[in-house]
This record gives sequence, C-alpha cells and structure tokens, in this order.
Amino acid sequence: MDNIAFIGGGNMASCIIGGMLANGFQAQQICVSNPGQEKRERLQQAYGIATTADNHAAVANADIVVMAVKPQIMGTVVKELAASIGPETAVVSIAAGIQLADFQLWLGSSQAIVRVMPNTPSMVRCGAAGLFANNLVSEEQKRSIETMFNAVGISCWVDNEALIDAVTAVSGSGPAYFFLMMETMQRIGEELGLSEQTARELTIQTALGAAKMASAGDLDTTQLRKQVTSPGGTTEAAIATFQSLDIEDSFRQAMQSVVKRAREMASEFSS
Ligand SMILES: NC(=O)c1ccc[n+]([C@@H]2O[C@H](COP(=O)([O-])OP(=O)(O)OC[C@H]3O[C@@H](n4cnc5c(N)ncnc54)[C@H](OP(=O)(O)O)[C@@H]3O)[C@@H](O)[C@H]2O)c1
Repeated sequence: MDNIAFIGGGNMASCIIGGMLANGFQAQQICVSNPGQEKRERLQQAYGIATTADNHAAVANADIVVMAVKPQIMGTVVKELAASIGPETAVVSIAAGIQLADFQLWLGSSQAIVRVMPNTPSMVRCGAAGLFANNLVSEEQKRSIETMFNAVGISCWVDNEALIDAVTAVSGSGPAYFFLMMETMQRIGEELGLSEQTARELTIQTALGAAKMASAGDLDTTQLRKQVTSPGGTTEAAIATFQSLDIEDSFRQAMQSVVKRAREMASEFSS
C-alpha cells in the first residue's frame, strides 16, 4: 500500500483525494500539506486524512508525492523540498505548463517524475487526464499513479512530453469549449422564444445525451451525427451552415492556440 503525499490541498488535490477514497484507497495512505488551516481542517473532516502545514513532514514517508500547487510557485516549493524527497519516491506534477526538464533540474536527474494534465470534470468523477512519465518511473509506479487518476475519471499515457500540450488542447481546455457551446445554444434558444429555464434544461440534457451516446461506443461520432441528420431535414440545415462557416478551421485555430500558449507558459515558468 503506497503512502501518498499531496503538496497543496486546493481544488484539484481535494477532488482527486475524494475520488481515491471512494475507489479503494485508504485514508491512512494519504497526507496533505497545505499552509491554510481552514483547508486543512476541511480536508481532515471530509476525508479523515492526515494534514500538516509542513511540506517536509508530508513527504517524509511518501512513495508518491503529488505536487498540486499553482504553477507560479512550483519552482520555489519543489526546490525547497527537494532534499526531503526520497530517491525511490515518484513525484507527480499536475501543474499546467511546467516541463519535466525543470523538475529534473530542481530534483536531480535520477528522480522518477510523472507529468499529468487533469481537467475540471474530475470534480464530478468524469475527468480525463493525460500522463507522461520519464524513463525512471517503474511499471508498478505507473499503475499506482494511473489508478489515482482513474478514481476521478479516465487516464491516458502519452508517448512523448510534447503530447501533453495536445492533451491540454483536447481535454485540459476542452470543458470550456463545451461550456461555450452550451452557453451559446442556451442564449439563442432564448432568442428563439424559449424561457431561460427551458433553454437551459434542454441544452444541458442534450449535451449529456450526446456524450452518453458517444461514450456507449456503438457508433463513432461521425456515424452518430449522420444518424440524426436526415437528408433535407432541419439538422442537415444546421450542419451545412456550420460547415459553410468552416467550424473545423475554427476548432483547429483554437486548439493550435492552446498549444502555442502552453509552450509560452513552459518558458515563462522555466528556471
Ligand atoms: N483546477 C483545474 O482545473 C486544474 C486543471 C489542470 C491542472 N491544474 C493544476 O493543479 C494545480 C492546483 O490547482 P488548483 O486549482 O487545485 O489550485 P488551488 O485550489 O489554488 O490549490 C493550490 C493549493 O496550494 C496551496 N499552497 C500554496 N502555497 C503552498 C506551499 N508553499 N506549500 C504547499 N501548499 C501550498 C494553497 O493553499 P492556501 O490556499 O491555503 O494558500 C492551495 O490550497 C495547479 O498547478 C494547476 O495548474 C488544475
């Protein structure tokens, strides 16, 4: 049974811990270090886990250390903690934009390190995380880390670190694309005469229904779209309009701008 330390007990750490405990992890395995007392008390009460304000104490016996502080302070926190992290410990970073090379610089080149890009639906156990490990992470460590993220959704390993930027473009930032689409559909539903509540309920249920049909996996998304698009019908009129506006190119440009921004952030946070 691995001992797992979280450095930073904010939103992401809290939802991962909640998922872990609901999926077979034991409270005794988990320790969280967080400076704010209120958050420590909340975590202790909600989950019965150990908490501390001392990062060094949290990592002392940890097999896995999850770095869950904001990217802006990651360098300072990791450098300060490096000497207390054991050589056999796997360090997991969930911070957006910080590269393995930086962690290797701060922790030494012999540390096992995993970079993870989770997303906010982890809060409702429907998360999607992309993971990349350096070559010092054992298969056993990979399985343990994967199990942690599977507790709040699904996880996929990628073959090279640059693909974490692609993960960011698809699932990291992706929830916001769907929210934008839902926001827009709801507003136009109202413009077309529906009440705010009806437009909202229909939009949300439609998004949920479409996601459930897609995840059932019987048909791929192209087949599902064609299935609801009768020739000469209403949906065909909508799809033709989207295609004439080149929606694919809008998505391509938006997702390429995520990759560009992720690369800029990597150099901003780099030491
Ligand atoms: N939220 C997301 O959707 C999301 C998605 C992907 C990746 N991430 C990544 O997840 C990480 C955490 O994000 P979050 O949304 O959970 O942020 P958050 O809620 O602000 O959590 C960060 C926590 O770090 C604590 N902290 C500050 N200084 C610390 C220190 N020196 N030592 C230990 N803990 C310290 C803060 O404590 P106090 O508040 O008590 O100061 C806070 O509880 C970030 O790196 C972010 O990039 C988040």
